[in-house]
Amino acid sequence: MRPLTTDDIRQQYLDFFRDHGHAVIPGAPLVPENDPTVLFTTAGMHPLVPYLLGEAHPAGKRLVDVQRCVRTQDIDEVGDESHLTMFEMLGRWSLGEYFKEGAIEMSFEFLTRVLEMPLEMLAVSCFEGDAVAPKDSESAGYWKKMGIPEERIGFLPKAKNWWGPAGAAGPCGPDSEMFYWIGEGKPRGNPATHEKEWLEIGNDVFIQYTKTPKGTFEPLRQKNVDEGMGLDRLAWILQREEGARNVFETDRMKPILEAVFDLQEHSAFAAKNRDEEQIHREETRAARIITDHLRAATFIIADGVSPSNVDQGYVLRRLIRRAIRSARTLGIEHRGEFGPGIARAVMGEYGEFYAHLHEREAVILATLKQEEEQFGKTLQEGLKRFEKVMKEMSGSTIDGMAAFHLYDTYGFPLELTKEMAKEQGLNVDEAGFKKSFEEHQDKSRAGAEKKFKGGLADHSAETTKLHTATHLLNAALQKVLGDHVSQKGSNITAQRLRFDFNHPEKMTPEQIKAVEKLVNDAIKADLPVSYHTTTVEGAKKEGAIGVFDERYGNEVKVYVVGPSARPTKWSSGRASSGQDPWNEPFSKEICGGPHVARAGMLGSFTIQKEESSSAGIRRIKAVVEGGPKEIEAATEA
Ligand code: ALA
Repeated sequence: MRPLTTDDIRQQYLDFFRDHGHAVIPGAPLVPENDPTVLFTTAGMHPLVPYLLGEAHPAGKRLVDVQRCVRTQDIDEVGDESHLTMFEMLGRWSLGEYFKEGAIEMSFEFLTRVLEMPLEMLAVSCFEGDAVAPKDSESAGYWKKMGIPEERIGFLPKAKNWWGPAGAAGPCGPDSEMFYWIGEGKPRGNPATHEKEWLEIGNDVFIQYTKTPKGTFEPLRQKNVDEGMGLDRLAWILQREEGARNVFETDRMKPILEAVFDLQEHSAFAAKNRDEEQIHREETRAARIITDHLRAATFIIADGVSPSNVDQGYVLRRLIRRAIRSARTLGIEHRGEFGPGIARAVMGEYGEFYAHLHEREAVILATLKQEEEQFGKTLQEGLKRFEKVMKEMSGSTIDGMAAFHLYDTYGFPLELTKEMAKEQGLNVDEAGFKKSFEEHQDKSRAGAEKKFKGGLADHSAETTKLHTATHLLNAALQKVLGDHVSQKGSNITAQRLRFDFNHPEKMTPEQIKAVEKLVNDAIKADLPVSYHTTTVEGAKKEGAIGVFDERYGNEVKVYVVGPSARPTKWSSGRASSGQDPWNEPFSKEICGGPHVARAGMLGSFTIQKEESSSAGIRRIKAVVEGGPKEIEAATEA
């Protein structure tokens, strides 16, 4: 097997699939744009949902990328050998082009010829079938053809071998998963018979269904392939001979783990444990949690999130505070300096591939420093609270709820409370703590579940309408306030749009009315919406607005509201008058879509609020009402 570095594996994946006709596209930010249903990008397919549903992607039908992902469902597993909250997914897609045979052939070739994984160490699983989709003997047949022996192919039910939708609705399908033997001795059986000894390293999802909000499965117009491989796990496997025993000991993770141990001065575990092995186990777990959580926090801050008590900000805060708590159990007390120190190590390892980490370095360091200082104060208050609990209690056992309150509000790990209790000759009701803990967990899970409501693919009629309304608003603001206006942020829910833009002062009521009227005039004129594909340069030349970073790759889609460059039925019918105010495109904007086919579908547009968002940035909230329930999507001009 080739002892490849993490950077090599990433590059080899992109190169291999580029050589097989896939366009390399950039990964998306961790916070999904225009998708209110999830907090974070959880898979490579997530930013591609419209294209899996049938929208044309400007870069073509075969795509490959590296997507940074955050998944918090498994946060309690972090600290073991293979779980992470932030990870890099190597992904490639066939958008309605090749299907199972092509997908499996290329996966196999990548693993065995590019990475040179020995055939005898590999196994796969396929979908066993249910009322929606049949048993996937077809995929099993292709694996066999590639050389995977029958006893290494397991068939598993929907709970294991079906991927998506990530939320309640959206694209999904049966998948076939790839595994590497990490058990003792010679490989045995397959993932269906020896689950724990086979490590999943990747999967091919055959996205050919969409789950409706009602819970039924409809076949999609096109059959897609969605492959995801876990870069950290591949690196572990390929670096095993060099001594990597888990995802934290790869060439890119180990330096971060070591930076954590370098800061250690003494250990809270050592104080209470005599068993060296146990101390080592607990310290290792704490250091892994710090490594994972601060790597995730660094990437999350770099993508524009700051700690808060809601949504993405809350997840970020929890990650940072959990890391700080673990640091205290390792005896690390560099208040305000610990987080930034580890973040520097993260940037050192990942800043080359992810250049935006360096661009945001000052914000990353300042955010971690501030959160750490603030949390330090909370901990002080927690100590006071602990004393109060002790004064007020009767008997010798600290109530489980009180211990949980110390954990939840003041960030006291149970271990810390137990230790302090012990010093006073007291116990802690651990079962009670666990009960409160689980109740709380359920609550936050339920909250997260709610977020998923409506499904990952909330490209419903309402959000599509609001998306088109956002383009109209953007154009109208420029026309009324001046060319200096540009988009600074956008967020759409099923109920409203929110749009941030730069403008030095509050808009006057007249300006707000004028903008509203322009948008409504465009709606009344029922302007057609269409797109064409061009290069970033081409889009600039034709005067399109929009974000000119490499987000969509060099090929971009430009959505035009109003007559497009090519004559449409609408414009040819009126072009002769020469007086028509709508003869020029109303809006031209780089965007991935989707949009409605005609502005008339928006009904009417109302600005509900105009307020300050931050220095020099204004924020508008607006709604559309009265349009049709069913919409038609804009197509290529
Ligand atoms: N979407 C698939 C996954 O996340 C590839 O595993």
